Amino acid sequence: MANIAVLTSGGDAPGMNACIRAVVRAALRNDHHVYGILSGYRGLVENSFIKLHRKSVAEKINRGGTFLGTARLDEFRQPEVVEKAYDILQEREIDLLVVIGGDGSYCGALELSKLGMKVICIPATIDNDIASSHFTIGFDTAVNTVVEGIDKIRDTSTSHERCSIIEVMGRNCGDIALHSGIAVGAELVVTNETKFSYQMVIDAVRKAQAKQKRHALIVITENICDVVSLAREVERQTQFQTTSTILGYIQRGGTPSAYDRFIASALGTYAIECFDNNIFNVCLGVNGRQLYSTPIDEALAMSGERYPLLYDIIKLLK
Ligand code: F6P
Repeated sequence: MANIAVLTSGGDAPGMNACIRAVVRAALRNDHHVYGILSGYRGLVENSFIKLHRKSVAEKINRGGTFLGTARLDEFRQPEVVEKAYDILQEREIDLLVVIGGDGSYCGALELSKLGMKVICIPATIDNDIASSHFTIGFDTAVNTVVEGIDKIRDTSTSHERCSIIEVMGRNCGDIALHSGIAVGAELVVTNETKFSYQMVIDAVRKAQAKQKRHALIVITENICDVVSLAREVERQTQFQTTSTILGYIQRGGTPSAYDRFIASALGTYAIECFDNNIFNVCLGVNGRQLYSTPIDEALAMSGERYPLLYDIIKLLK
């Protein structure tokens, strides 16, 4: 019988609740005590814990966001803050900390593990930018939200004969743009893995015009350019009326997809199985139906696989 604490950290992601539910129920089934930490690492250093029971996670599997709350705590990079967190975990006799979040959250977990805390990290971020897992909890829902949004933009673009430039989230990772771009049949997807210039966008729009298309959809990852200026320039050079839409935070909310609930439930359960088999200080990952674990330092050093074929699909099918 052990004391297990769980927190969600960084940007929220649909499916985090399903994952907390799985951690709690799998832990209780194996006779452990479970505590939820409110608002991520901030709640940890503020000693904000609640006891979690079977019923605490009822009616949560289908809810977006995270009922424990989350935060980004830059101070968690400071050794004295990590030490304070470690002391609180020791005082509370916590045997395992489960961290559900992205790579920033993994860094905090690594520092705690260096002090002697047992930790297990579960990948949850809409960005899908964690190399130690093929998919992260929240990514599938975000892609579906983006596709739904772009389908709507497409209707009005086609009616009005317009080009639409859509900026999506992902921080520095192009996966949301790439997967949604394929799913909506975009003319062009621009990410940090592709080249970017105004000219390449203009060329793509001209090609759509030459095919007498009534719309042109360009999907671009955030932080690459100012899409408002880009739209203005595309319109000036092509005479194709062009609008820009920044989808923004809508991508982080909403009911988690079946796939996100599935991997959240599997990874949460697997975390407890790992701990009970003396596996800890790892990041969990999912590839198809396979679950696996990677030591945290190795996971953080991994670089993501590149998928040139997926970019080719866009070119081939447009
Ligand atoms: O990491 C998820 C994410 O939504 C990124 O796609 C985005 O760049 C960032 O978080 C926004 O963070 P914040 O909520 O702090 O504005």
